[in-house]
Amino acid sequence: MKVYEAVTKRRSVRRFKDKPVPYPVLEKCVEAARLAPSGRNMQVCEYIAINDAAILPGIFENIGGSVRLPPEKGGPRPGQTARAYIIVLINKTLEGGDNRRKVSYYDVGMAAENIMLVALEQGLGSCPVLMYDENALKPILNIPDNYDIALVIVMGYPDESPSAEESAESVAVTVDEKGIRHVYKRKLADILHKNKF
Ligand SMILES: Cc1cc2nc3c(=O)[nH]c(=O)nc-3n(C[C@H](O)[C@H](O)[C@H](O)COP(=O)(O)O)c2cc1C
Repeated sequence: MKVYEAVTKRRSVRRFKDKPVPYPVLEKCVEAARLAPSGRNMQVCEYIAINDAAILPGIFENIGGSVRLPPEKGGPRPGQTARAYIIVLINKTLEGGDNRRKVSYYDVGMAAENIMLVALEQGLGSCPVLMYDENALKPILNIPDNYDIALVIVMGYPDESPSAEESAESVAVTVDEKGIRHVYKRKLADILHKNKF
C-alpha cells in the first residue's frame, strides 16, 4: 500500500471483528513507532502492545470518548470491542523534567500516526484515545511510577467502514441509520494558504 493511499484510507475505527490480532502484527506497528521522528532524537516513548484476551476488558473499562458510546451513537456493540491495544508511554526518566513535555507530546503524535498507518497496511483498524483513566490503567498494566500514559490506541480487524467527506458547515461526526459513521474534513481550499495567508 502506498503511503498516500494509507493516509486517505485511515479512519478511526471503534468496532472490531471477533478475531485475535497476532503479536507480530503489533510488533511491526511498534517497530514503525520506534523509527518515528523525535525531538533531539531523545526517544522518550515506549509502548505496551496488548493482545492478551484476559487483559483487554480491563482496558476497555477505563477508556472513554466515542469508543464507549452506545451502539446507536457509533460505539461498539457487545463483542465488537478492541482486540488489541498499543499504549504509548512517556519515560519520564529519559525526558528529564517537565520542560520537554510539549516536545514529548509531538513525539507521541508522530509515533501514533506511524502505528496507525502500519496497522492499516496490515489490515487493522485503530483509533487514538486520549480519554482514559490513567490511575486505573497503570496497575492493570504494571506501569512503573516514572512513566506516564500519553495515548491509548485501540485496535483490531475492522467491523465498520467510516466514510470521510468534505465538510459543508459542521465538522461534527454523525452516525446514520445504518450505523455508518460520517467524518467531515475541512476542504483543502479552506486550510491551504498558498505561499502567503
Ligand atoms: C488527540 C486525539 C484524541 C482523541 N481521543 C479520542 C477519544 O478519547 N475517544 C475516541 O473515541 N476517539 C478519540 N479520537 C479520535 C477522533 O475522534 C477522530 O480522529 C476524529 O473523529 C476524526 O476521525 P478520523 O480519525 O476517522 O479522521 C482522538 C483523536 C485525536 C487525534
